[in-house]
Amino acid sequence: MIAPSILSADFARLGAEADAVDNADWLHVDVMDAHFVPNLTLGLPVVASLRKATALPLDCHLMIDDPDRWAPGYAEIGAANVTFHVEAADDAVQTARAIRAAGALAGLSVKPGTPLEPYLDILREFDTLLVMTVEPGFGGQSFMPEVLPKVRLARKQVASGHLRLFVEVDGGITLDTIEAAAEAGADVFVAGSAVYGAEDPARAVDALRASARAAMDW
Ligand code: DX5
Ligand code: ZN
Repeated sequence: MIAPSILSADFARLGAEADAVDNADWLHVDVMDAHFVPNLTLGLPVVASLRKATALPLDCHLMIDDPDRWAPGYAEIGAANVTFHVEAADDAVQTARAIRAAGALAGLSVKPGTPLEPYLDILREFDTLLVMTVEPGFGGQSFMPEVLPKVRLARKQVASGHLRLFVEVDGGITLDTIEAAAEAGADVFVAGSAVYGAEDPARAVDALRASARAAMDW
C-alpha cells in the first residue's frame, strides 16, 4: 500500500490535495505537537474535517506526548489506522485496546534508535508497525538504511505466524529507496516529498507502488 503524507501537501487545500492522490491506499496524516518532536502541524479538528473531505482511509501518525490520552480520539472521529510512538506511551497496550475498541486499526511506531525486540510481545495488540526510516519531525530527509534490520525482523515474525501486522516504513521513501524497504519486508510505504513534490502526484503513487511490488519477493 502507498500512503502519501500530507505533510508535504498544501495545508490550505487539504481536500484538493487528497483528491490529487485518489489512487492511493491510505492518506498519511502527521500529527506533531512541538513536544515529542520539534515541529508543529495539526490536530483533531483538522483531521475530523479531512475525514469528511476524502474517501481515502486516514492513516494518522501521532508524533505527540501523552498518546494514551489523545490517540483514541482519532479513532473516534473515523481514522482508519491510528499509530502512536512507543517512546511516548505510558501504557501502549491499553491505548491500542482503546483505539481498536473505537473501531480503528492500532499502530505502534519506533524511532530509528529504538530497538524492536523489547516490544515484540506487545505487538500482538497491534495491527500496524511503523518503522521510522528518518528521525520523526520533518519531511524531505534522507532514508536511513540502517533501520532495515527492524523491518526484516518484523517481516520474519509475520511470515512465521507469530504476528499479524502491516509493516510500514516512513521517511525518505522515493523511487531510489522503496525497493530496499520492500525487499526487507515492508508492505505499507509512506511518501511525502516523493509524491507531493512530483509534477503529477497520482502518477508518483503508481510508480512507487510498481517499484515496491517488483521488489516484494518474500
Ligand atoms: C516525518 C513524517 C513523515 C514525512 C515523510 O516525521 O513522519 O511522514 O511526511 O516525508 P518524506 O517522505 O518527505 O520523507
Ligand atoms: Zn509520518
